[in-house]
Amino acid sequence: MDRRPNKIIPADLATVPGLDALEAARIEVGAIPSDAQAIGVGVYTDGDVPGEVGFDRAALEQAGFTAKPGSVLNVPRAGRPDLVVIGLGAQDDLTADVLRDAAAVLMRGAARRERVGLRIDDLAGVEVEVATRALAEGALLARYRYTVLNSASTHIALKALTLDIPGYGDVDQPITQAFVGARAAVVARDLANTPPGHLTAVNMGEIAESLGERFGFAVELFDKEALIALGCGGLLGVNQGSTEEPRMIKLTYTPSGESSGHLGLVGKGIMYDSGGISLKPSDPMHLLMKMDMGGAAAVLGAFTGLRDAGTTATVSGWLMCTDNMPSGTSYKLGDVLTARGGTTIEVKNTDAEGRLVMSDALVLANEDGVDAIVDIATLTGAALVSLGSARAPVFGNDQRTVDLVTAAAATVDEQVWQLPLERKYRPQLDSEIADIANLGGPFAGATTAALFLEHFVGKTPWAHLDIAGTMQTEKDDAWRTAGATGFGARILLEVARGFAPAS
Ligand code: BES
Ligand code: MN
Ligand code: ZN
Repeated sequence: MDRRPNKIIPADLATVPGLDALEAARIEVGAIPSDAQAIGVGVYTDGDVPGEVGFDRAALEQAGFTAKPGSVLNVPRAGRPDLVVIGLGAQDDLTADVLRDAAAVLMRGAARRERVGLRIDDLAGVEVEVATRALAEGALLARYRYTVLNSASTHIALKALTLDIPGYGDVDQPITQAFVGARAAVVARDLANTPPGHLTAVNMGEIAESLGERFGFAVELFDKEALIALGCGGLLGVNQGSTEEPRMIKLTYTPSGESSGHLGLVGKGIMYDSGGISLKPSDPMHLLMKMDMGGAAAVLGAFTGLRDAGTTATVSGWLMCTDNMPSGTSYKLGDVLTARGGTTIEVKNTDAEGRLVMSDALVLANEDGVDAIVDIATLTGAALVSLGSARAPVFGNDQRTVDLVTAAAATVDEQVWQLPLERKYRPQLDSEIADIANLGGPFAGATTAALFLEHFVGKTPWAHLDIAGTMQTEKDDAWRTAGATGFGARILLEVARGFAPAS
């Protein structure tokens, strides 16, 4: 059925507008050019205030500037570029994360400016390559905004940023890595920010195809018929109530040289989660359910970076895309679905749909013989309740794989926390009439969801990220912009980049 019969929703708005803005930005290292409209200058809480600031520490303090991370002082100057004084904290505490945040602060302070410079006189022991990457990445991520549907938007994209930092030599590599990471996150943000009527599972497949051509990975689309042939009863069951077709989107990246290993990535792609027959109550919170494809978006975002990041592993991705809707054709409580591989699943709650669509993909990843699986899903409200929006729970059946995810998360400053995969709770998923039920007890909901997934993972080394809490932020928070955060895209890219199985 044509969901856009009156063409009020133009199909071509289902794109990734933030990506074009990102690719148009230029980042260089060197002397700040004369056409810069704003210049940021980094100031530590200790040591000298750079002369370029033009004020001494006492004057800065008088103006309320503390030089702590996050502090900023805007000084407009007649006939000269704006001065934006940026706090860097104590020199001993300087890290890549502090620099990434500082670049974000500059982007906010110079939000009306297209051409910006940033001067830091002393990197306090942080390597110039590390600093370059962090500063560039922070700036690119912080300048993102989803504006295509807002005709009143006055957002100004970044055209040029020049980093004037000491000791620079060949910084092409760190700048490329910054762009590649930012691209992964921006693609994920754009997709998650797009309204559900503008981005159906079918649209998602089309976007994946065009991104695959552009960024060097193969895309295979599985429509309803193909999914029936594969026996993907989890995805098909959830899709039953929707007038939109489902799509399983299979992504494959093949490295140019010898492959260092084979990593499988699985993403939950619920384009809109109404809860289905177990309908969610009317609540502003459910505005967020257009982002219930944040896992699939993170996987697709990560794929856009694999080639340019120089990934040496083979990477396969499965995006499990459909809406979860109530209707006369919906799957019902008490229904039994048969997932790929034959496991029967009793549906005790149609709102526990994410684990159902993931089950088919985990089995398919196993069949492909991947060395490890990392899955990512906006899976449970319990993840949000337990760790809030700043940290994502990570679970797994293999400590090494969990550690790969944890280390990658630390590198990109997206926080995760390992929770135990407490198998004592596994009997909560036992069913009287099927192999397994999709609902556990009232407590430890993120854990019982992970235990459900583990059933389909088998013995393959596996880690699971529940991003229900971290997928969005209400307000701008350093380089995380309000709305979808793209959480996980950069983690997955970092995990994949040098992936090799345990020897
Ligand atoms: N998509 C939701 C989880 C979610 C909640 C994501 C809040 C982001 C913010 C998921 O499909 C869901 O509805 N989970 C249920 C599971 C329950 C029925 C076992 C939940 O967490 O309430
Ligand atoms: Mn749900
Ligand atoms: Zn959901």
